[in-house]
Amino acid sequence: MSPFRLTRTLPEDATDTALRADVLTGLTSTPKWLPPKWFYDARGSELFEEITALPEYYPTRAEREILVGRAGEIAAATGARTLVELGSGSSEKTRILLDALTGLRGYVPVDVSESALTQAGEALVAEWPDLQVHALIADFTGGLTLPGTPGPRLVAFLGGTLGNLLPGERAAFLAAVRALLSPGDALLLGTDLVKDERVLVRAYDDAAGVTAAFNKNVLSVVNRELDADFAPAAFDHVALWNAEQEWIEMRLRSRTAQTVKIKALDLAVDFADGEELRTEVSAKFRQEGVRAELASAGLELAHWWTDGEDRFALSLSVAS
Ligand code: AVJ
Repeated sequence: MSPFRLTRTLPEDATDTALRADVLTGLTSTPKWLPPKWFYDARGSELFEEITALPEYYPTRAEREILVGRAGEIAAATGARTLVELGSGSSEKTRILLDALTGLRGYVPVDVSESALTQAGEALVAEWPDLQVHALIADFTGGLTLPGTPGPRLVAFLGGTLGNLLPGERAAFLAAVRALLSPGDALLLGTDLVKDERVLVRAYDDAAGVTAAFNKNVLSVVNRELDADFAPAAFDHVALWNAEQEWIEMRLRSRTAQTVKIKALDLAVDFADGEELRTEVSAKFRQEGVRAELASAGLELAHWWTDGEDRFALSLSVAS
């Protein structure tokens, strides 16, 4: 049996159906919004990789520092034989865990992007020839069924992506993760932390304009996939700190009054001069908040590790 398997748990047209529904709902709402998952076509994923190397964007480096420092402790605490990674993308940070988890037999990367899964999976089995890689094409925010891999399992959700979900979505997501866990399994969760507003805003509004290009890329995705006529240059990138909700919001602000046609939906969308479209929330956390959200989902915080500057946290929790 080949050590690399790929299973599609989503119908071939699921992505297109979901995009249509989200664009219709979001662009006919007041205020207008779109979910951040639509940033990540090939170009958007490339721009995100560029963001992770920006001097202002600290989360990726901070999380990597924690993983490098704590991988041995994570291995000892979990004894994991299967690593499940939700939203695995390029599986870059996974390599640190694969090196440290010496009892590991299988790796289950879960992502909506088939190309990312195949590319990453094939590279990993070449480097870890004893590892069974069973990739799942799945939307981790929907229901998830895992292949019958050996326990204990470690489920990893890294990068701070939990913060892209709204509070209600987070509760549902954590409850669904909890339902995947058997006694002895664990969840490794990356969360960006509340900090100085200027540091946060700069991380989402960099001097080189890469995040602005990333933000506007969602308009190109809608243009291509739904035959729309957004002019990305007719919108300004906006990043702001919402102090009540403790999240960063990215928005696109219309530079003029304009009408955008979305032919595949037979829809015309009016933007007033200065009107904003919310494209992302990226929530920032505190330890007590993470502990409480985990507890509500039936998970107990067992370890809390931060980087040297307390910018980012990795937590390990177990079913309670
Ligand atoms: C990949 C969701 C963790 O919210 O910081 C980066 C995405 N958005 N710059 C984040 C993102 C703008 C990123 N996550």
